[in-house]
Amino acid sequence: MYFNPQVKDNRNDFFNFEVIQEELKKAILDKNTPLIAIYGLRRTGKTSLIRVVLNSMSKKFIWIDSRDISSRDDFYKTLSDEIDKLKRFKIDKFTLKGVGLSLNFMKKGLDYLNKHKFVLVIDEAQLLKRLHLDNSVAFIYDNFPNIKIIVSGSESGMLKTFLGKNNAKAPLYGRAVFELQTGRLNKENGFTFLKEGSKQAKINFTDEEIMTAIKDLDGIIGWLTKYGWYRLKYAPKESLRRTIEEGSALAKEEFVKFASKAETRYKKIMKSIKGGARWDEIKKQMQISDKQLDSMMNRLIDSGFVEKIEGVYTIADPLLEASL
Ligand SMILES: Nc1ncnc2c1ncn2[C@@H]1O[C@H](COP(=O)(O)OP(=O)(O)O)[C@@H](O)[C@H]1O
Ligand SMILES: [Mg+2]
Repeated sequence: MYFNPQVKDNRNDFFNFEVIQEELKKAILDKNTPLIAIYGLRRTGKTSLIRVVLNSMSKKFIWIDSRDISSRDDFYKTLSDEIDKLKRFKIDKFTLKGVGLSLNFMKKGLDYLNKHKFVLVIDEAQLLKRLHLDNSVAFIYDNFPNIKIIVSGSESGMLKTFLGKNNAKAPLYGRAVFELQTGRLNKENGFTFLKEGSKQAKINFTDEEIMTAIKDLDGIIGWLTKYGWYRLKYAPKESLRRTIEEGSALAKEEFVKFASKAETRYKKIMKSIKGGARWDEIKKQMQISDKQLDSMMNRLIDSGFVEKIEGVYTIADPLLEASL
């Protein structure tokens, strides 16, 4: 069912995205594509896409969600636990706690992954940059050529930095990366998603209801899914209200975490961008230098909160905009 709010695992619950599914599949099968990167705004289906494609190919994989990783040792521990699960390798837990914890130490396990052509998925990989784990990914890339690495990230600019794009000093600089991008559904696909989803759920939304939902939620499939999920229980208006309320709270929480100590400033910028704005209009609202504003805008764009199209800045997520 499309409206199940969990990350999708199964092709039958997964709407459309055929082209990108095929591209990902091809890249996974291609021997000369060791590293795949999937960029896309939050809740546009990156995680679901990877899981659905790997499962449809019956590929064995190890999954690391970088949001759960708090230190380098934690990364190695998670990786070795996952290898253990696959192979019952029993990497010595006592030594794991010790000082010498490194990927080198796990060579035997990694050799096994390499030999069996496993896929290593690192979700939201940009979060590993602060732990300098781009180094470790480069180590795996260079020494275990048959381990296919898939990284994904909601913060496209940050993920590009992790991958060392345009930075000759970065550990992953110059490595071949095959890139894919998820995005919002266009109006037509958003419409079809809700229509077909409602048929599966045997509620049959009217065209008018669908248009209203899309107007507020845009083509962000995660929000449309949430709306559909609420519709299993509530009337259209109440479902939309709940989706907006809950979604805004979630989006706001992510934003506040990002802005951290500079929350007041970032909020002010975001407010000036509401509805779309050009540089000069934003600048007028802010008492900061061009250079400072430039760096803040770049961070907002790199982290997927703001988009810039033909000189106009907009807030990427309608529910984040609603929360401001
Ligand atoms: N193609 C799809 N068909 C049906 N539901 C989807 C699809 N893509 C994403 N979803 C739903 O949207 C939400 C967000 O998806 P997720 O894969 O977590 O996105 P991301 O990893 O980009 O943040 C989840 O509730 C998921 O079930
Ligand atoms: Mg995800």
